[in-house]
Amino acid sequence: DASDIEKGTYPHYMLKEMDEQPSVVRKIIQAYSNADGELTIDDNILEALKQADRLYIIAAGTSYHAGLIGKQYFEKIAGIPVEVHISSEFGYNMPLLSEKPLFIFISQSGETADSRQVLVRVKEELGYPALTITNVPGSTLSREADYTLLLHAGPEIAVASTKAYVAQVAVLAVAAYVAGKAAGRELDMDLKQELAIAANAIQTIVDSKNELEQIAEDYLKIARNAFFIGRNLDYYVSMEGALKLKEISYIQAEGFAGGELKHGTIALIEDGTPVFAIVSQEQVALNIRGNVKEVVARGANACIIAMEGLEEEGDRLVIPKVHSLLTPLVSVVPLQLISYYAALHRRCDVDKPRNLAKSVTVE
Ligand code: G6P
Repeated sequence: DASDIEKGTYPHYMLKEMDEQPSVVRKIIQAYSNADGELTIDDNILEALKQADRLYIIAAGTSYHAGLIGKQYFEKIAGIPVEVHISSEFGYNMPLLSEKPLFIFISQSGETADSRQVLVRVKEELGYPALTITNVPGSTLSREADYTLLLHAGPEIAVASTKAYVAQVAVLAVAAYVAGKAAGRELDMDLKQELAIAANAIQTIVDSKNELEQIAEDYLKIARNAFFIGRNLDYYVSMEGALKLKEISYIQAEGFAGGELKHGTIALIEDGTPVFAIVSQEQVALNIRGNVKEVVARGANACIIAMEGLEEEGDRLVIPKVHSLLTPLVSVVPLQLISYYAALHRRCDVDKPRNLAKSVTVE
C-alpha cells in the first residue's frame, strides 16, 4: 500500500520509522499471539528449533548486530547453542558444523547477496534446513529457505535500519521464548508483558527528541570520531549505535566492549573525544562505570545512558526500566536519534547516505 510508505509530515523516513518502533513491537506481540493470547510461532518452525543441536545465525550489517543478541536469547532462554556469523565471511570461513544444524538468516530486505550465497550452499550443497527472519514476504531469502518468520515492521525506506532492527530483536526473543517453553524450561518472565513494557519505554524515548537533539549537539557537533561502549548486551547495542552514526553522519565511530578498550583503543582517547556508555545490565554496571572513569581521566567527553534503577548523578540520559534481556530494544533508540540529529547538524542526506544502498544485491 503506497500510503504506508508516505513520509506524511515527517522530514525524513528515518524519523518516521524510528517513531513507528513502539507500534512495531505491539504489532509483533499481536502477530505472534494465538487465540488464547499466548505467544506462538509456526509449529514447523518450532519443530525445526527442537530438532536442532545448534543454530547458525547468518546476517550482515545491522541484522548481524540483531543476531548477536539473538544468540543470547536462544542460549539463555531456550538453551540451544548458537553461533553468529557475518554472511560475507561464512563461505570461505565455515566453522565445523554440528550434527543437526539449523541455519537462521536474518535480513530486513531478504535480498542481501552475501547472505543468499550462504543460503544456496546450505540448501543445495549441504542439505540443511534454513529459516529466514525478514521484513519482506516473498523476498528471495524467504522463498529459498524452508521457513520464514516475518518482522511485521512495515516497509523500511531509510537506508539506515531502525525499526527493522527493533523488530528483529523482538522476533528473536519471541522465537527463543516459545522454543524455551516448548522445551519445558523454567522461564521466570512473561515475555508478552515484558515486550509491552518495552514498547512503552521506546515511546518515552521517541518522545524525548529535544533532549536527544541536544545531546547530539553537545557531543557530536564538532567531533571527528566517537566511541560507544557497553558490556554484555550493551556491547552489542554499542556496535549498532556506532554503525548508525557512521552510516548517516560520516563520523568515524566504533563500538567496543568496555573491558577491551584498555587493550589498545584507549590510545585514541583525547581531550573532548565523545564516548557514549550504555549502562543497562546490572551485573556489569560497576565495571562499565569503571571504564567510563578510565576514559574521562584521559579527557573523554562521556555521555552515560543508564537504565532507571542503575542511574547515578551526572548520567546524561535515563531510559525507562525494562526486563534485562530486552534492554537492546530500548537502549538502541536514543543512539538512533542521536545519530539522526548529528547527521542533521552536518546537513547530511539522512535517508540516502553516500555510498550505501538499502539492499545490497552484489557479493
Ligand atoms: C545494507 C544496508 C544495511 C543493512 C545490510 C543488511 O548494507 O545498508 O543497513 O543492515 O545491508 O541488510 P539486510 O536487508 O540483509 O538486513
